[in-house]
Amino acid sequence: MKPIKIGVIGAGSISDLHFGSYAKNENAKIVAVCDLNIERAEQQAKTYGVEHVYTDYHELLANPEIDAVSICTWNNSHAEISIAALKAGKNVLVEKPLCKTVEEALAIERALKETGKLLQVGFVRRYASNTQILQKFIQNDELGDIYYAKASCIRRLGNPGGWFSDIERSGGGPLIDLGVHMIDICWYLMGRPKVKTISGNTYHKLGNRSNIKNLSYYKASDFDATKNTVEDLANALIRFENGASLFVDVSFSLHAKKDEISVKLFGEKGGAEIEPELLIFSEKYDTIVNLNPQIDNLSFDFVKAFQSEIDYFIECCRTGNETISPVEDGVEMMKILCGIYESSKKGTEIYF
Ligand SMILES: NC(=O)c1ccc[n+]([C@@H]2O[C@H](COP(=O)([O-])OP(=O)(O)OC[C@H]3O[C@@H](n4cnc5c(N)ncnc54)[C@H](O)[C@@H]3O)[C@@H](O)[C@H]2O)c1
Repeated sequence: MKPIKIGVIGAGSISDLHFGSYAKNENAKIVAVCDLNIERAEQQAKTYGVEHVYTDYHELLANPEIDAVSICTWNNSHAEISIAALKAGKNVLVEKPLCKTVEEALAIERALKETGKLLQVGFVRRYASNTQILQKFIQNDELGDIYYAKASCIRRLGNPGGWFSDIERSGGGPLIDLGVHMIDICWYLMGRPKVKTISGNTYHKLGNRSNIKNLSYYKASDFDATKNTVEDLANALIRFENGASLFVDVSFSLHAKKDEISVKLFGEKGGAEIEPELLIFSEKYDTIVNLNPQIDNLSFDFVKAFQSEIDYFIECCRTGNETISPVEDGVEMMKILCGIYESSKKGTEIYF
């Protein structure tokens, strides 16, 4: 069988994981790359031996050789490029978040229905081995009904700057960047219940803390300390139609003791943590037991999870199988994220 021919649009930081994973998949071949920044596109083309280099994604999409694209651009172009790619007959793997607004998400969903192509949303944590192992326990009813989840991703000094802190290009700060992963992984493992209400808060209190000295942190390539139009902290309580609830908090800047990530799920028969490490709790013969899975990666392994996500995408392209991170879930996630921003702005709970 011929390999699936890939074009990668957006050749920045995360594209490395896409290029690297396609390169290791024997059923894929990267044939084109596009970036507004020609040097960046040429650099990736050189590293991965890519034949065609473009600065205009329309030209890449007009190349009939290409079967599928990875969209690794800023959030503000995800909708426009996804729709154009689907209409050009390409299958699409689009990075998270699906886009910036619910309207854009619905437009992508419509384009997908019209074209009958495949679109996978880059909810990479769904593809991690610790998630998939926990999912097996959940599907076998080891946790019973999950009625509460709690997720937190706190950076005390972690505003990457650049497009991440420019609301026009990102759509928001830590909520749309980190919160999307935290909320999605809980929601997915809870069985994707329908949202009923959202109460959210966002804060612009500390800015990007660019005054801090003697402590290094990740900065986007075009970091500019004077530009920051996104929130520093967001929290939300999401109530679902089945009565379950999810509490989340995420930050780029916060007076916290240290950076922290935690994801916890609580069910009627058992509970689990998936971050910082997979651990399952239960009760046997009137005794509480903690199950420590003996596996290679108890935490999220970035590189392996990306490989698994991309292998899955290629498999779906070849077989026509359904993806485990479909557009409907991207739409639902945009409703939740935008609902949190709306609730915060209005200072009231949002009802769906
Ligand atoms: N799944 C994850 O864990 C994860 C991690 C980091 C980033 N991301 C997502 O990946 C995307 C890119 O993030 P990044 O960190 O690589 O950013 P980046 O700034 O390093 O790279 C983005 C690149 O896209 C290019 N670009 C922007 N608009 C374009 C357009 N219209 N046409 C062609 N090129 C365009 C930019 O020039 C830049 O080189 C974002 O949506 C982000 O949310 C996902």
